[in-house]
Amino acid sequence: MADKNFRVLISQRRLEARIGQLGREISRDYRGRKPVLVGVLRGAFVFLADLLRNITVPAEVDFISVGSYGDAKVSSGVVRLLQDLNTNIRGRHVILVEDIVDTGVTLSYLTHNLRTRRPRSLEICTLLDKHEKRKVHVPLKYVGFRIPDKFVVGYGLDYAQQHRNIPYISWVRED
Ligand code: PRP
Repeated sequence: MADKNFRVLISQRRLEARIGQLGREISRDYRGRKPVLVGVLRGAFVFLADLLRNITVPAEVDFISVGSYGDAKVSSGVVRLLQDLNTNIRGRHVILVEDIVDTGVTLSYLTHNLRTRRPRSLEICTLLDKHEKRKVHVPLKYVGFRIPDKFVVGYGLDYAQQHRNIPYISWVRED
C-alpha cells in the first residue's frame, strides 16, 4: 500500500480536542466512582492511553482481546475471546473502550459476555462509529466521531497489522 493512498480523515488536532471533551464528560459522569476502563485489544490501546490521561477520577485499566477479522477487511461474523480480563468486574462500573464500531458484532458479544459477570454498570465508549455498517444494535454512550463507510487506519487501527502508528485517522483510497 503506497503512502499516496493515505488521506487524513481526522487530524491529530481534532482527535486531541474531542478526546479531551470525552475525558471531561466521563470524569463528570463518574464523579465519586472508580470506573474500570476495559480496552478492546488490539485497536483501542492508543485511544485508551489518551482518553485515560484526560480522565480525572481514579480509573483502573484492563484489557480484553477478541477477534473476528483476522487480517481481513471484512468480519467473519464469529467473535472469539483471545485473552480475558485480569480484573473481577462484579459490582464495578465498567466502561468498554473501543477504537471503532462497525457491524456491532464484537461489542454485542462483549457486552453479553461481561454482563454475565454482574458489573454494577456497563457503558461503551468508542472513538469511531461507522454507523452505516451496523448489523446489531449496541447502545453507545460516548462516541468520538461518526464516520462514513470508508476503510480507515491509524491511531491504533490497522490494515493487516500495519499502520497502527499513524498519529491521525486516515482513510485509504483504493485505486
Ligand atoms: C476491530 C475493532 C473492533 C471491531 C469492530 O477489531 O477494534 O473490535 O473490529 O467491528 P464490528 O463492529 O464489525 O464487530 P479487529 O478485529 O480489526 O482487531 P484489532 O482491534 O486487533 O485490530
